[in-house]
Order: sequence, then structure tokens, then C-alpha cells
Amino acid sequence: DKCKVIITGRVLPSVLELIQKHCQVYQWEQTRSPLLSDITEWLNDAEGLFVTMNMPVNEQLLTLAPKLRVIVQEAVGYDNIDVPACTRRRIPFCNTPGVLVETTADLAFGLLLTAARRIHEGWEWVRAGNWQNGTQFPLGVDLYNKTLGIVGMGSIGSAVAKRGQACGMKVIYHNRKRLPVQDSFQAEYRGFDELLTEADFIVVLTPLTAETRGMFGAKEFARMKPTAYFVNAARGAVVDTEALYNALASKQIAYAALDVTDPEPLPGDHPLLQLPNILVVPHIGSATTETRIRMGMLAAENLLLGLDGRPLVTCVNPDVINS
Ligand code: GLV
Ligand code: GLV
Repeated sequence: DKCKVIITGRVLPSVLELIQKHCQVYQWEQTRSPLLSDITEWLNDAEGLFVTMNMPVNEQLLTLAPKLRVIVQEAVGYDNIDVPACTRRRIPFCNTPGVLVETTADLAFGLLLTAARRIHEGWEWVRAGNWQNGTQFPLGVDLYNKTLGIVGMGSIGSAVAKRGQACGMKVIYHNRKRLPVQDSFQAEYRGFDELLTEADFIVVLTPLTAETRGMFGAKEFARMKPTAYFVNAARGAVVDTEALYNALASKQIAYAALDVTDPEPLPGDHPLLQLPNILVVPHIGSATTETRIRMGMLAAENLLLGLDGRPLVTCVNPDVINS
């Protein structure tokens, strides 16, 4: 008998084929995330769980899934997963670190560059016929000689630092742990408040945790320069959405560019989307063909290894296996 596994959303065909070779798959195929009640029956006999973005994995789900032996998620962030609850049940949990670093850094830096030079607005401008009728396009701002402040200097933050330096930016960073000099790519450490006041561009790449939830609120936006550009490529809930709205609407800061929002997706009539000084893309940090194949394959590999009781490639709570 093949092991039964649940996949909570769409995955690439090659990833599905690999899993189906070894497992009987229950796949959630609707575009919205499943509720627990949608998959209760599947949970009752699933031995593996493959999570695509956003489905909460908590005590309640685990209680409904007595046979689960491995959980994998096709993402590097795992704020939706109660890892201690998995660990208490001795279920290993695996994310996909490493494989999306450069891809996500491209998107974060791309948002910064696009916002600074108004590339997206320029395209709308041309399409609307304004170029042809001679209307003056509003000027952007330079990256060169500006200060890039990175909050969350992990592997993705470091990859963004290199991109900034290539454009002639001075790079400063704030991180929970200060990095050894040889690992910081000549970026200088700053306290959080200092970074907020000094940076011309702020890029957020910190994981969402109890400490970082709501880390950017009214007080933090008030510290920023009125010319500051704010880029979030981390998780929406790191930012207080209403405070960001107020900061942009009152021009307390110049511009925001977001790959992630809270809530996600933003409703079409959300006030943020009515602002002139914002750019929002639909959580596409890792969304390239090459990287999504790497992420899907890594998650599938961990799933199959876990079902076989073999060592995992990228396990967040490896102690469940050794102890
Ligand atoms: C995407 O947001 C991820 O965490 O991989
Ligand atoms: C991303 O892949 C990370 O490990 O930070």
C-alpha cells in the first residue's frame, strides 16, 4: 500500500508526479486555502503533509491527523507552522531554505529600483498616451550615493546588500544578532532606531515571529525620513498595515513597495491600493520557474525521505528524529 499524503494547494506537475510515484495523493485544488473542515477526512489517514503557503498547522490540525509522520512546506518562512506542537508529537517539519535566496533578493531589489525610478508608473503613462501628448512624467530618485538599510540580514538580506553595493549604495543593517565582519559584506550594523532615521531605502527581510510582528508601526514610520522608501519582502504582519497607510497618506514617508501584505491577498477595495505612492505585487519573491522547481523538489524530497524514516535534507526540528 502506498502512503497517503495531503498536498494543500497547487504544485508543479513534475513535483506532483514525483510524489505520486511513491504516494497516494489527496490534493486540494481550489484556489482558496483549505479550511480544516475541508480536509478533515484526509487528515484522518494521512502520513505526510505537503503545505503550500498559508495553511495554519497547529494543535487543532495535528489532533485530527494521528498518523502524520512528516510535514513539509514549500516556503522558507514558516510562521504558519506551530513547530513546538509538531516537535511534541515527534513529527519532523521541513522548509525550503537556501534555494530561493538570489531569486527573492532580485525581487526585493527590483521593487526598490522600480519604485525609485517609477518604472511601473512610466509604463502606465505610456499606455495611457501621456508620452505622446507631451505631459511631463514625474521625476524619480537615485539609488547611487544613497543609504540602503536592511532589516533582517540573513542570507536574503545579504544578497540584497550586494545588489545595493553594486549600485553604489552605502549599506547598513539591523539584525537580531550582529554579524561577524567577514559575513556582513561591508554593511555596517546599526541599532533599529538609528537605521530607521539614517536609511533612504529600508528593505525588510526578517522572519515573522512573536518579536517581529508589528515591528513597523506609527512610531517607526515617524522616525523615517520624509523621503524614505519602504520595501517589505518578508511577511505582511511585520508591518502594522494601518500605520503604513497613515504614513503614506500623510506623506510622512515617500513611498512603499510591498511583496507581502496583511491581510493577504489585499481586498481589491483596500485603502492601501487607492494610494498614489505605493507599489504592490502578489507575493512573488520566489516565483520563478527555476526556483519553484527547486523548492517543490526539495519539499518533495524531504516528504519522501520522512515517510521512509531517513535523514532529512532541511529539517527545522531535527531533534525529533535523533532523540
Ligand atoms: C515565501 O514567502 C517563502 O517564505 O518562501
Ligand atoms: C533563505 O533561503 C534563508 O535561508 O534565509
